Amino acid sequence: MLIIENLSKTFNMGTEYELNIFNNFNLQIKEGECTGILGANGCGKSTLFNIISGALTHEKGTITLKGKNINNLKENERARYIGRVHQNPSAGVSPSLTILENISLSDKKCEKFTLRKLIRKNKIEEYKEILKTLDLGLEDKLNTEVKYLSGGQRQSLSLLMATMKKPDLLLLDEHTAALDPKTSKLVMEKTLELIKTQKITTMMISHNVRDAVKYSDRIVMLDRGEIILDVRKGEITEKEILSIYNRRNYGSLREAV
Ligand SMILES: Nc1ncnc2c1ncn2[C@@H]1O[C@H](COP(=O)(O)OP(=O)(O)O)[C@@H](O)[C@H]1O
Ligand SMILES: [Mg+2]
Repeated sequence: MLIIENLSKTFNMGTEYELNIFNNFNLQIKEGECTGILGANGCGKSTLFNIISGALTHEKGTITLKGKNINNLKENERARYIGRVHQNPSAGVSPSLTILENISLSDKKCEKFTLRKLIRKNKIEEYKEILKTLDLGLEDKLNTEVKYLSGGQRQSLSLLMATMKKPDLLLLDEHTAALDPKTSKLVMEKTLELIKTQKITTMMISHNVRDAVKYSDRIVMLDRGEIILDVRKGEITEKEILSIYNRRNYGSLREAV
């Protein structure tokens, strides 16, 4: 489904701030699965997503999505195939636009249109039905500007918008990290419901090991741009993963896993 081959990425190449993140990195993601991506802060998780989505370029390597080499596609061209939800609840939505305008924008993703023609009246009932699946009453607030929604409501809306065109790949980057525990659980459950009913191939970076173990079909753990753990659901417990995080000596960790 997604194949990353021999990926190399260095920030600030040739300067004193040069930082090699990936060096011949390889990863394959299976269709329809939710793969949890774990790893310490700064190990390259978001960089990987930025490279996959086209927000960052890389020096070497091939990214193939559904059999198609997407290396030369720009970020906005990849957006047709790749949905993304960020940690910041404002990143995936336009806060000063209404719910209806936001949804209409996602619906017209990658189409050419004028803002005046953004809203298609004959689509409103369809949007209301989609919004109802969130159970947040947003279908009755179509004309409310998104800035008045709570963080959980915004993330749920972002999720809906990222998946409404059924992307080939969904990238979730700590999308519940900014939410309180109760809202985070609600958004996670909504996430799982959405991706499982639509069978959306998902990569989910998570700060929360328990969520990753509970909701992912597979767990991949990175350390300094390398995969140090790659297991199926049920093959590892939350406690075992936490003990890996807590081990200081990552060198011996690589041998132990
Ligand atoms: N655009 C950038 N320019 C320079 N360095 C960056 C950039 N983006 C990320 N980095 C650095 O790369 C490393 C990995 O960052 P990131 O992928 O965001 O880590 P995380 O695993 O926490 O998501 C960090 O040291 C970060 O400072
Ligand atoms: Mg990150």
